[in-house]
Amino acid sequence: MRMRKKPNLGPRMERCAQFLIEDPRELRGQWRQQLKPDAQQVWLELGCGKGRFTAETAQQNPEVLYLAVERVPDAMIVAMERCAAKGLTNVFFVDGDAALLREFFAPGEVDRLFINFCDPWPSNRHAKRRLTHENFLVLYRGILKDGGQIHFKTDNHDLFEYSLFQFPKAGYSLSEVTRNLHEHGIQGVMTDYEEKFHRLGTPINRCVGTKEHLETEPEFHPIPGPDFHRAAKESTQEAAPFQP
Ligand SMILES: C[S@@+](CC[C@H](N)C(=O)[O-])C[C@H]1O[C@@H](n2cnc3c(N)ncnc32)[C@H](O)[C@@H]1O
Repeated sequence: MRMRKKPNLGPRMERCAQFLIEDPRELRGQWRQQLKPDAQQVWLELGCGKGRFTAETAQQNPEVLYLAVERVPDAMIVAMERCAAKGLTNVFFVDGDAALLREFFAPGEVDRLFINFCDPWPSNRHAKRRLTHENFLVLYRGILKDGGQIHFKTDNHDLFEYSLFQFPKAGYSLSEVTRNLHEHGIQGVMTDYEEKFHRLGTPINRCVGTKEHLETEPEFHPIPGPDFHRAAKESTQEAAPFQP
């Protein structure tokens, strides 16, 4: 779904400037030291959208340095304003693409990743753009520490089943696999999309992938940049059966 252009984006960004990391490449290998030297862990959320989950999770975990990457500034500004309203000091935002994570973070710099309700890219032609495609999961290996985790949630059944095949292929063990997270009442912090789908009665899928140590790291194939993704997204998003 295309976002409506937010009015006054520039001035609103300026008011939230303390949350925005202008050049994430400059902080590569230095995130904790530069932003929160006492942080016990570094958590990174991909595609935070309007940031309901971001703001609440950062607030609940003040000992964590919480980072969020989002490539649509019109959504990210809402997330930043939510964090400002809560007076948070442990959360920062990158206006960028998850495909570039290895340029932003050094090996082992991140303890935990969150992928919540990522775009499903239902056409098999676009499978490589799914944030849980094997190659993306290999990309994350390059910034996660050994034993680091990926916490993944989606409403999309086909994407979830597909992802369960991808995690082991990229060297992650699976745990906490559920196809109806809120069956017995709300579990954990909800995202904006999750809240909406849960209200509609859609079951929420969740799993955790833990990075296993591998003697030989799987080969990572660099992912074409954001312009490529934008053009592709505008061209088509037709549905077709998912294949592992
Ligand atoms: C369906 S929305 C979900 C937003 C939020 N996580 C939630 O659950 O409410 C997916 C979000 O991921 C962002 N996104 C998709 N691909 C991305 C990428 N490669 N890098 C950064 N953000 C991305 C989109 O701009 C969008 O805001």
